[in-house]
Amino acid sequence: MIIIGADQGGFLLKQELTAHLKQRGIEFEDIGIHTPESRDYPDIAEPLCRAVAEGKYEKGILVCGTGIGMSMAANKVHGIRAAVCGDCFSARFTRLHNDANVLCLGGRVVGPGLAADILDLFLDTPFEGGRHQRRVDKMMQLENR
Ligand code: RB5
Repeated sequence: MIIIGADQGGFLLKQELTAHLKQRGIEFEDIGIHTPESRDYPDIAEPLCRAVAEGKYEKGILVCGTGIGMSMAANKVHGIRAAVCGDCFSARFTRLHNDANVLCLGGRVVGPGLAADILDLFLDTPFEGGRHQRRVDKMMQLENR
């Protein structure tokens, strides 16, 4: 089960992505926004990321205008490894090497077709572990210093 959210900059792309998830038969929770009203991206990022960090959802998807504000807010939450992706290579490798648990997308940057491909790679690519586990562990220890 995954969780998805957006501000007004990401609203339209989120609608495209939820349609794509439905088509793929992937279960998700959509925490809004549900109409294109203005919302501050940290107010969406925080509850979504806390739910992922608590293990209620396997992965999270956040969409704003650029993906950047969402990723900055997301990475303030302990346990979150959020990656902004605008290409398929990054989406694949942030799973393989960084074990990213939140994908951030820019609704004003990527089109719906590319965003769906990025989302699919993010959801379908496993973490490689091995030497990357050691690096991820070191990265997460930064939260305690
Ligand atoms: C909202 O206009 C915009 O700042 C937001 O969607 C996002 O791009 C922030 O990083």
